[in-house]
Amino acid sequence: MSPSDALVSQRERLDTTGVLHLDEIMGGGLPRGSLLLVMGLPGSGKTTLASQIAFTAARAGKRVVVLTALSESTGKLIEHLRAFTFFDQDLIGGPVQFLSLQGVLSQGLQATSKVILDEARRVRADIILLDGFRGMRSVDTEPQAAREFLYELGTALSTLQTTTIVTSETDPRDPTFFPETTTADFILGLHYTLLGVRQVRAIEVVKARTSAPMPGLHAMVLSQDGASIFPQLEERIALELLGGEAAMQGGSRETPEVAIPDPAVARATFDLPELDAMLAGGLPRATCTLLAGSLGTGKTLLALNFALAGIRASERVVFLGFRESRAQLALAAKAFDIGPDIARALRSTSWGIASLPSSTEPGHSGSLSTASRSWSGASCGAAIRSGWRIIWRPCCWQCARVGSRR
Ligand SMILES: Nc1ncnc2c1ncn2[C@@H]1O[C@H](COP(=O)(O)OP(=O)(O)OP(=O)(O)O)[C@@H](O)[C@H]1O
Ligand SMILES: [Mg+2]
Repeated sequence: MSPSDALVSQRERLDTTGVLHLDEIMGGGLPRGSLLLVMGLPGSGKTTLASQIAFTAARAGKRVVVLTALSESTGKLIEHLRAFTFFDQDLIGGPVQFLSLQGVLSQGLQATSKVILDEARRVRADIILLDGFRGMRSVDTEPQAAREFLYELGTALSTLQTTTIVTSETDPRDPTFFPETTTADFILGLHYTLLGVRQVRAIEVVKARTSAPMPGLHAMVLSQDGASIFPQLEERIALELLGGEAAMQGGSRETPEVAIPDPAVARATFDLPELDAMLAGGLPRATCTLLAGSLGTGKTLLALNFALAGIRASERVVFLGFRESRAQLALAAKAFDIGPDIARALRSTSWGIASLPSSTEPGHSGSLSTASRSWSGASCGAAIRSGWRIIWRPCCWQCARVGSRR
């Protein structure tokens, strides 16, 4: 039975990865017995993400073996992981076993494979995590050896119902790794780049053999809690509209039939007759509009008019900003005709205000992504379904550019 055959028969038994939103972007979590390849350049977070999955599983009663190859010694790895909240010293030596492959690697990949399988059988491992595969490729001079090693290991472990996670210090799109990547059931590509002066992490599901993943690049944040993923908003919306549970079970990701207002006919007004007339009745509903202008030209005031028009029409309004509190927004409108109405509306529960952290997140896309979980009691799918007005005030132009792509 090939790893993917095994997957199909086990689809109902999905394990949660324990990484925020990773199950969602993978299309429902990590099926037991599958082979997951985590690829990324040094420092991209492969070991952290893979270990978080392993420790989550161990905490849930699974048996895990962590194998170190040539990238990090076992002692160093444990010290590295100790800084994370998912790490649990009490699990080590029990549900989580660490084993260094350094000694056996000199005997070749076949001998290494045998040691891994023997260990997996001995402890009846649910998860085998092999950290640092790239270095192992050079152990054998035969170019096919690394591919065969992964295929045979993945197949044998799959028949034992053991999930295999392999990390490799590689660009996820490096064609020289294609032979190995064909053997994997799932491939996660971790990206780590500079955006201006900021470091930005992202993750993509390069391949998911038996489920429908969320396509594209999703923001990833590393913190002492490990990795957290913030999927692209439009992909989350599609998933939520589809019905979270059905989608998690690998349901179709075709655009669902929902009551999204037709932008050709439905308009959201500013309650400013001249402007609404210029816009042929207002902004088309369920669309995104960028309000651009230099300092002091009235962007916030216009946005407040738009919010107020929504409140007057008994719609839900969410204001996502980096600076203003309710009191500050009321102050901004105070000198104008709409001042008293804005002050009243801001006291209404129909108007949600969420302040987003601008400096605590490591990247703009991370800040932006927190927007979707910061609205009080709201989800983006619900917002679109019920025609909410969302006013998002980015912290800077760069952030607006990232947002407009989402
Ligand atoms: N508490 C933390 N908060 C935020 N980032 C952290 C924290 N701890 C570690 N990191 C980041 O995680 C990065 C290392 O992650 P990790 O070791 O998982 O990467 P890797 O892809 O396995 O690297 P390598 O290829 O070198 O093995 C560090 O470079 C650091 O930037
Ligand atoms: Mg590593």
